[in-house]
Amino acid sequence: MGERGLNRDIPGGLQIAPSILAADYARLGAEVAEAEDAGAEWFQIDVMDGHFVPNLTIGLPVLESLRAVTDTFLDVHLMIDNPGAFLEPFAEAGADLITVHQEASTHLHGDLHRIRAAGCYAGVALNPATPAETLSEVLGYVDLVLVMTVNPGFGGQKFIREAVPKIAAIRRLAADRGIAPPSIQVDGGIDPASAPVCAAAGATSFVAGSSVFRWAPGIAANMAALRAALDGHA
Ligand code: DX5
Repeated sequence: MGERGLNRDIPGGLQIAPSILAADYARLGAEVAEAEDAGAEWFQIDVMDGHFVPNLTIGLPVLESLRAVTDTFLDVHLMIDNPGAFLEPFAEAGADLITVHQEASTHLHGDLHRIRAAGCYAGVALNPATPAETLSEVLGYVDLVLVMTVNPGFGGQKFIREAVPKIAAIRRLAADRGIAPPSIQVDGGIDPASAPVCAAAGATSFVAGSSVFRWAPGIAANMAALRAALDGHA
């Protein structure tokens, strides 16, 4: 499907996707490069508006700056109200994949089609309280489902293990409709202990902020520890 994104395919296999929310913004380019040198093929950019979630983070200028310095797959997670107002601008700024929240998208079917029409892969995120079945009418138009394993808004939170069965529920939903399962991403409290639990349930993309950018051993060692934890689950 290379026609989407800026001619980038969704990277295959089990992907560690460092979340730059946890990065040091005074050194963002250098830290992204360090994670790439350690094998990162995918980054997640957490956009928060202080309304849909109780935190305010980054937006279009940071994506534009990162796009100018990396060819790595950039996944934009819109934790904002009315995401429909920002789909094309984030595609223009260089997103390869745009994820909207099921809980925030008034016209989810339309938003997903607009994301693809803008040349990006389409993702939808589910908060811990939102059932997989809410996607039954749109799963055929989704390239990725993001199963939140924290309540969104902050890094460094505790992994919510009760969200794990939703991974299999999404795969069942796809099978019941005779469609190939989307990429299934997990996000929040993902580390060498929780990542294999999610991989065993069928997750394929692992968003990790603190356990890549914040933990003591450093980015390269942290990426290696996550990769080692996922080995054998491919
Ligand atoms: C939380 C964000 C996550 C967060 C993950 O609302 O969506 O991507 O950055 O951070 P950690 O990995 O520290 O839980």
